Amino acid sequence: MRDVLFAPVRLGGIDLANRIVMAPMTRDRAGPGDVPTDAMVEYYAQRASAGLIVTEGVQPSAAGKGYWRTPGIHTPEQVEGWRKVAEAVHARGGRIVMQLMHCGRAVVPANRGFEAEVIAPSALPCPVQVPGPDGTPMDTAMPRALSAGELPALLEEYAAAASNAVAAGMDGVELHCASGYLINQFLNPASNLRTDEFGGSAENRIRFPVMVLKALADAIGGDRVGFRISPGNPYNGMDPSDPQGTFAPFAKAADALGLAFLHVVDMGLDGLDTLAMLRANWSGPIIANNNLKADSARALLEAGRAEAVSFGRAFIANPDLVERIAAGAPLAKADFALLYTGEERGYIDYPPM
Ligand SMILES: Cc1cc2nc3c(=O)[nH]c(=O)nc-3n(C[C@H](O)[C@H](O)[C@H](O)COP(=O)(O)O)c2cc1C
Repeated sequence: MRDVLFAPVRLGGIDLANRIVMAPMTRDRAGPGDVPTDAMVEYYAQRASAGLIVTEGVQPSAAGKGYWRTPGIHTPEQVEGWRKVAEAVHARGGRIVMQLMHCGRAVVPANRGFEAEVIAPSALPCPVQVPGPDGTPMDTAMPRALSAGELPALLEEYAAAASNAVAAGMDGVELHCASGYLINQFLNPASNLRTDEFGGSAENRIRFPVMVLKALADAIGGDRVGFRISPGNPYNGMDPSDPQGTFAPFAKAADALGLAFLHVVDMGLDGLDTLAMLRANWSGPIIANNNLKADSARALLEAGRAEAVSFGRAFIANPDLVERIAAGAPLAKADFALLYTGEERGYIDYPPM
């Protein structure tokens, strides 16, 4: 019988040759101006046998940058850089979507290399430190609370970023709604103390995130827009209690937009079957992630709990992860000291089997 991991699948308007997705991974190797480098082109091209690549988090605006050397998609030079990435992946038969990641309050200003405001739903600093330029954790900046009147401009920034991604040749975008960044800061009651229609009840907290998804869909077509959530993840100061209370209505509201996929970091929560909860509220394709191995990934697909599966860390040292899984070959181990440093070392020098 054919291995379900290698069965083609369609996510909205994006055709995948197999169901193995490369999860988004920040690697801190963008060049001056936060422009993708030739090494990044090579890195993604090496991994093009994935059914789909989700790029590292990419800031839609200068204010969205929180980490050291993360790439952007808001200048012409950045668009040209990403064009080379998309072309190289497509030349090898792959598919690639760009993860749009606005850090909101999770910002160490020294990581930026320029002056820009730090904004968030409420004026509450990220309670945990974030790695600074040399990787040492540093305090984040105090954010300024966004006024409701500023939100339309933010929607325009997101829409422009998605249009830029498509202009660069990307197959679509994934909105980062996970891990305590801007969208998650709106969703979560620990970071959102707003008293207007964007805070308080779950219905209010999901309002801006849904508006962003709608703006992305209006800009490039809903069948090229996915989103990523991590219900119950406490990362970056999120309150992990009652994930269902927020993410069931969020998935349901997003479902009405006809989007391409929902990508979920399944935290393996006690007392909540996250995948089943999402299945009940979302009718589109699900990409499941977190701590998967080939066998557990296959089991999820065979049970119909997800349409695709994503691997993060396994792709670092295994550019040919898809071929290795197909061959039942052992996986190489990554040098985690070189995750965010080392330029080409620990990045594009992992050989195929
Ligand atoms: C080095 C590294 C960087 C990451 N950067 C991002 C990111 O930019 N955006 C995101 O949504 N998740 C990010 N993640 C989380 C991964 O996408 C994934 O959810 C996580 O590694 C769990 O999957 P795995 O068990 O297959 O590694 C990152 C993980 C790692 C290891």
